[in-house]
Amino acid sequence: MNKAGLEDVVASQTAISYIDGQKGDLFYRGYHINDLAEHANFEQTAYLLWFGDFPTEEQYRRVCGLVHDQLGLPKEMMAILFDLPDTAGPMQALRTAISALALHDPEANDNSPEANQQKAMHLMAHFPEIVAANYRIATGQWPLQPMERCGLAANFLWLLKGCEPEPLHVEAMDKCLVLHAEHGLNASTFSARVAASTLSDMYSAVTAALGTLLGPLHGGANQHVMEMLVEVGDPKHAEAYVKNALANKQRIMGFGHRVYKVEDPRAIILREISKELCEQTGNIKYYEISEKIREVTYAEKGLYPNVDFYSATALHALGIKTELFTTIFAVSRVVGWTAHVMEQHADNRLIRPRSEYIGHKNRTFTPIPGCRQAYH
Ligand code: CMC
Repeated sequence: MNKAGLEDVVASQTAISYIDGQKGDLFYRGYHINDLAEHANFEQTAYLLWFGDFPTEEQYRRVCGLVHDQLGLPKEMMAILFDLPDTAGPMQALRTAISALALHDPEANDNSPEANQQKAMHLMAHFPEIVAANYRIATGQWPLQPMERCGLAANFLWLLKGCEPEPLHVEAMDKCLVLHAEHGLNASTFSARVAASTLSDMYSAVTAALGTLLGPLHGGANQHVMEMLVEVGDPKHAEAYVKNALANKQRIMGFGHRVYKVEDPRAIILREISKELCEQTGNIKYYEISEKIREVTYAEKGLYPNVDFYSATALHALGIKTELFTTIFAVSRVVGWTAHVMEQHADNRLIRPRSEYIGHKNRTFTPIPGCRQAYH
């Protein structure tokens, strides 16, 4: 039977994450997202998602060292970024760069578990570098070298801004990365698994996932949330904005979810992060607009915020440009994608669903006289 949008269809088994949409719970490898956001950093979370358990102290140091050793973009990659046309947005640039990165990895086509683990670390290291280098080039600034001996969240903020980030900002960015890292068979992860199921390589799967993430119904929503907040401009305009949008059958970005029937647990954590950051920067306006939009959207339509809603104000308060928001999601989600590619490769069966045909049947063909000859 046809299920529009494959709603509720179970298309694969996974041991990576579990979502209870009725209760609003999310677990990575059996650990609740609240505990992970509170206690684990992004590198530990990546290890957990890839290998199934938290690292020991020694394994943690080794993996951080391996990721750190991968830092530094090949000069050919820099050349590609410098050559991109002005029309390339940050997600398009990232998608192009990741596809090109494969050409500089001699193990790109090796799908063995060892090569895939290596590539997962390689991608995790290079995603923030590419996003930051491309941003700096696009804004007329020179790309920076990564800092020594610091975590990925701190390094990412440094590479973007070129100043040592405050501890509160590093912690907030790290939590954002933990919260976005994995979410079951969402659209981009499904794309990655479909590509991997053809025994295509990890870079191709991640490139497919990037193309899927950028749409406004998925990762692109966070950017649209910020644009909406700017358009609303003041908490006292929020009610009219929401009512008008709903009356015109428009979607309120950052609301609703295919799986959660209650509030997305990540949104609850991000709301706190956003509030703290907005208070700290002294600019609480967008947070207040968000709260008003939340109130009215729930009252009018019974919809709850999803992960993209408060990540917008949190990233804005971190001083990150709106057009980069979806790439921040990608910097985190690459860890989930690569975990799923490894899981798919470890026990593969080609993913090949069917469609229900609703078109014409048994039509009679009327040839256009002489059209074949026209090609000779
Ligand atoms: N604003 C207004 N109405 C909405 C929204 C929304 N954001 N989301 C769902 N609805 C309504 C929809 O109009 C429909 O109403 P009705 O039954 O009266 O016609 C009903 O809710 C069911 O909508 P649906 O499109 O069948 O639900 P879905 O499961 O296909 O869509 C969704 C899920 C996330 C695509 C949708 O909620 C949406 O478009 N949200 C806005 C974009 C967004 O925030 N995306 C981020 C998703 S979460 C993180 C991620 O995956 O990246």
